[in-house]
Amino acid sequence: MPTPPSVSAVRHNRTVDAQPLDWQNLGFNYIKTDLRYLSHWRDGAWDDGTLTEDNQLHISEGSTALHYGQQCFEGLKAYRAQDGSISLFRPDQNAARMQRSCARLLMPAVPTDKFIEACRQVVLANERFVPPYGTGGALYLRPYVIGVGDNIGVRSASEFIFGVFCIPVGAYFKGGLTPTNFMVSSYDRAAPNGTGAAKVGGNYAASLLANHEAKARHFADCIYLDPATHTKIEEVGAANFFAITRDGRRFVTPKSPSILESITKYSLLDIARDRLGLDVEEGDVYIDQLDQYSEAGACGTAAVITPIGGIQHGDHYHVFYSETDVGPVTRALYDELIGIQFGDRPAPDGWLVKVK
Ligand SMILES: Cc1ncc(COP(=O)(O)O)c(C=O)c1O
Repeated sequence: MPTPPSVSAVRHNRTVDAQPLDWQNLGFNYIKTDLRYLSHWRDGAWDDGTLTEDNQLHISEGSTALHYGQQCFEGLKAYRAQDGSISLFRPDQNAARMQRSCARLLMPAVPTDKFIEACRQVVLANERFVPPYGTGGALYLRPYVIGVGDNIGVRSASEFIFGVFCIPVGAYFKGGLTPTNFMVSSYDRAAPNGTGAAKVGGNYAASLLANHEAKARHFADCIYLDPATHTKIEEVGAANFFAITRDGRRFVTPKSPSILESITKYSLLDIARDRLGLDVEEGDVYIDQLDQYSEAGACGTAAVITPIGGIQHGDHYHVFYSETDVGPVTRALYDELIGIQFGDRPAPDGWLVKVK
């Protein structure tokens, strides 16, 4: 088991004199860990990058990231297995998605090797923050690319920063999987030919008010419908949606150019087909035809799987399996996925990249 970092180590870098971190109750909060990676793009190339203790960025007030939202980010986790080894879950997929986000916002791509190497360095440099096996926690990595440099016009930056930092995060559901309720939002998070498929800050800025209003009505978050017709489910907050048909045989998930392609969702799709023997389908999920499904869930790196208890749409409230119990297929998907991530069940080829 790793030596737990202390609270003051977290606040003041490496001063070990206070309470150890409470691995069981970490939540999802910013913590200043020891080292982060930074690389600069200048004169048409990325530099080698370096690890630094400084968690402050010193950038021009004219940076395009600040004014025109020229930035994108990623989120992935490193998991500690029972034998103490540490692995990243499908970092090549995050690298590829970040390359697509960069292309959409006219930013230079970070090559896959560089992306994975940066993540590897950050995990190793902060190894003491990787939660012990058995706590359900993981080390969350946040890679990002931002446009920087002196600028004022609406144009692409001439300089960029690629950074990766990490925080230890706890198990999303402390007492086990719990169904959660959502409401359909009247806001759109993305436009039909906009940036919904890219992981860019503007999409999240657009979601803040919708999320705030859903929470004020005691829902966990909102469901976004397709921006063109408002008839089909697209996303659940910052997560993808899936549902299981009433016969328990088919895993269905929306397909749309304005959805962020979730790495967790595509992993579940493979698991559903290859390990649970289900038929899988990427297609339309109409908000007025939810009766076809017996179970539904939200999926993503942070939440893994959040079983959806009910969905409020206008005056109608639809309950899937139950508001208190988790459906059997949702549970089987969850068990298989976290089993793979923590090294307890065999991983498909290439899904785990061992760091240590
Ligand atoms: C809008 C949105 N959809 C879906 C997801 C889930 O994607 P992933 O499974 O790759 O974390 C995320 C989180 O990254 C997200 O922000």
